[in-house]
Amino acid sequence: MYNERVINEFKNPKNIGEIPDADGVGTIGNASCGDIMQIFLKIEDNRIVDAKFKTFGCAAAIASSSVATEMIKGMTIEEALQVKNADVVERLEGLPPQKIHCSVLAEEAIHAAIDNYREKTK
Ligand code: FES
Repeated sequence: MYNERVINEFKNPKNIGEIPDADGVGTIGNASCGDIMQIFLKIEDNRIVDAKFKTFGCAAAIASSSVATEMIKGMTIEEALQVKNADVVERLEGLPPQKIHCSVLAEEAIHAAIDNYREKTK
């Protein structure tokens, strides 16, 4: 079902784990499949200097978390908010149609983590 790129990312995911003193944490779940993705951000001067994830989910969700955290590291908050699930899918060279929602979790978790950061720094 998955292409080789997705399988490789799933087998060798980057940025797994927590950031204990994270500046923003976002948790998103999908009610239909029950998968949960949590993204932790370290932010300095409006820039994401570190990103990690904990995902209880399918291979596509883990691969999406891995590439999404890689993509946003080094971005400003505004740039990270522009990252769409389609960008994650492109980076993974495609996902099966029934697995597109797994990449949406990554986009939503990034937004939730940034919202959390903005709440904390208001
Ligand atoms: Fe729901 Fe992958 S099957 S996140």
